[in-house]
Amino acid sequence: MSRLVLHERNHPYMIKVGDEEIFLCGCGLSQDKPYCDGTHEKTQNEKNKVYFYDDKGNRVEMINFYSNQ
Ligand code: FES
Repeated sequence: MSRLVLHERNHPYMIKVGDEEIFLCGCGLSQDKPYCDGTHEKTQNEKNKVYFYDDKGNRVEMINFYSNQ
């Protein structure tokens, strides 16, 4: 069974461990999860729609099944 996971955040979570700041992926696109690798930059021009990103980082706009609009 496959599962679609919707990520709406377009920037990382920052946590502090002692004096160190660690950035955790919030967009779901990092290739180095749980850490942010900067890939979220490609989400910055998203337009309040639902997109699918393939393994090569290509973006496709999808019909939004999650909205009542
Ligand atoms: S928040 Fe996902 S790569 Fe930065």
